[in-house]
Amino acid sequence: MYRDRVFRMSGIEDFIHKFVPGTSGRTLILLHGTGGTETDLLDLGRTLDPDAALLSPRGKVLENRMPRFFRRLAEGVFDEEDLIYRTHELADFIHVAAERYGFSQSKAIAVGYSNGANIAGSILLLRPDTFQGAALLRAMVPLIPENLPELKGAPVLVVAGNYDQIVPVENVRDLVTLLRRSGADVTVFFENASHGLTETTITTTQRWLKDWGHI
Ligand code: MLT
Repeated sequence: MYRDRVFRMSGIEDFIHKFVPGTSGRTLILLHGTGGTETDLLDLGRTLDPDAALLSPRGKVLENRMPRFFRRLAEGVFDEEDLIYRTHELADFIHVAAERYGFSQSKAIAVGYSNGANIAGSILLLRPDTFQGAALLRAMVPLIPENLPELKGAPVLVVAGNYDQIVPVENVRDLVTLLRRSGADVTVFFENASHGLTETTITTTQRWLKDWGHI
């Protein structure tokens, strides 16, 4: 069990990653989907916020050589022990990266896609002080924590696809309920799309960042 494990502090070399400096004091933490790498979401990050710093780590778990942020037993069935371990490991890394690169975690927004959205959701639930808020693109319930965190109005955007072949719409509703019960300020948007990102996903995320004043 997670409780019995001894956690070591992460170092900056612990995750392969890219860091692109910004000019605004804001940071986007970009978390790729299964099979992605640290470069996948850099263009998306720049499109979403031209002035933010970008931190983009590569998931450390390999599934058929495809990087992921945590192990799964089957599609949509997560190895919870590994998920919890990886959640703390990544949260520790983000903390180390903030000190190393000099960005403020309280002005950092996670932008996660698919598997990256799921670990971002898990960080919100288990390590809520890791970032200010998150845009969860094609996310599902990562786990149900023993105790709900205090998200204290943290801004969260959930963008889901009505025809997503991996994430059922009911699961997205459960995720929104879980985050709202934890005190997050959740905006949810369902689009007529499947699991892949669309132009609408991107413009919705851009608008959300502007609407609550992040940009
Ligand atoms: C996951 O494993 O996190 C989800 O099933 C999404 C994905 O396919 O990566």
